[in-house]
Amino acid sequence: MRILVLGSGGREHALCWKIHQSAEIEHIYAIPGNPGIKNLEKATCIPINIKDFSAIKDYIKQEKIHLVVVGPEEPLALGIADFLEVEKIPVFGPSAKPAQLEASKSFAKDLMQKAKIPTADYAVFTDADSAKEYVRAHGVPVVIKADGLAGGKGVTVAHDEETAFIAIEEAMNKKVFGPAGEKVVIEQFLSGEEASILALSDGKHVLPLASSQDHKPVYDDDKGPNTGGMGAYSPAPVVTPDVEHKILKKILKPAIKTMDEAESPFKGILYAGLMIDNEQNPYVVEFNVRFGDPETQAILPRMESDIVPLLWAVIEGTLNRYSIEYSPCACVTVVLTSMGYPGPYEKGKKITGIENAEKDPNIVVFHAGTMEENGSILTNGGRVLNVTGWDKDLTSAVQRVYNAVEKVHFEGKHYRKDIAQKGIAKIKNMSK
Ligand code: AMP
Ligand code: GLY
Repeated sequence: MRILVLGSGGREHALCWKIHQSAEIEHIYAIPGNPGIKNLEKATCIPINIKDFSAIKDYIKQEKIHLVVVGPEEPLALGIADFLEVEKIPVFGPSAKPAQLEASKSFAKDLMQKAKIPTADYAVFTDADSAKEYVRAHGVPVVIKADGLAGGKGVTVAHDEETAFIAIEEAMNKKVFGPAGEKVVIEQFLSGEEASILALSDGKHVLPLASSQDHKPVYDDDKGPNTGGMGAYSPAPVVTPDVEHKILKKILKPAIKTMDEAESPFKGILYAGLMIDNEQNPYVVEFNVRFGDPETQAILPRMESDIVPLLWAVIEGTLNRYSIEYSPCACVTVVLTSMGYPGPYEKGKKITGIENAEKDPNIVVFHAGTMEENGSILTNGGRVLNVTGWDKDLTSAVQRVYNAVEKVHFEGKHYRKDIAQKGIAKIKNMSK
């Protein structure tokens, strides 16, 4: 089988790495891919613009590709699944309407309300004065969210009125997120611990993947601005079997059923970003319509089942016939970033030590913002590499992964030193 993966991040490298292990694979193609994907034995990267659907379609036909897996949200929101379906090309990822679950926060909130899914109370505004009035009336803390896609940067958790007003001004009047911020959602602040559940859905059935936890702020102890994600681990002990059961029953199943009833069945990965209150009650913070990055990098190395039949089951509507086997190990991903990210940063720094780190058979270094030039690997983005390691338990996995992190070098390398510490603390607490 020939499979095309769209995207160029750590998530896409992890997907290609896992697909590459499938018994069914003949060749993997990535548009545009990255140097890590290119290094896989049976993989080719093609420099086509991910928004050039027509060029992508021509390439798929030329190479007789059997299945397309879409990594990022943008092409999904722009309707790549609809476009390829017209051409009878099987595609893993939702069409544009269900992709609104991520592309419009107000759409997602309205669906949650309709499906009675637990989430923060909210209101939607299209003018800044009414938004401010609402904040004055309801008090702080509140969360201000740009309605549209803002690369993970459109959310402000405001603990005082001034911060809330600045966020409203920037989104709605200064338009720092462009059209994405013309509408804002203002939500009640939720406390608790965050976790991510990514679930496969074929439109009718839901099959959750293993739990994980992301680390969004750029500095240790969750300080500093939010990023796309600085590290992840799986499983997340905050998702106990009881919490997992509630997530399936109160969140995933109602979401899929309501989408189906609205005649926009959701096919692909439904990613629920959750707040777990009192270690018991899950609330939805956000829905995404694709694999999480860096959660995927921490989940897939634990997956023992072949991923390709699962991807097909989503397309064929036969997910109810499948289950997924995992290794009982813990897996940890630490993201190495360029100094300055998520603000401005320099590119083109030479990276060394990846092979050295990967001498450990339980370590994989997934590429994200890298490029190849004259045989050298250079930094080419904010999130550069995802050092991923697994071991029998979370403490050992953390030791192993940070040991590998020390072996990789580039000028301005930054990373969080506390990935998975919440999980380790929780395990200690639970065993008391
Ligand atoms: P989102 O892009 O909606 O996931 O928001 C980004 C981050 O903001 C989340 O990962 C949370 O840490 C935080 N956040 C979003 N909504 C809320 C909320 N209602 N209460 C508390 N924190 C939130
Ligand atoms: N890890 C956050 C995201 O994928 O949106």
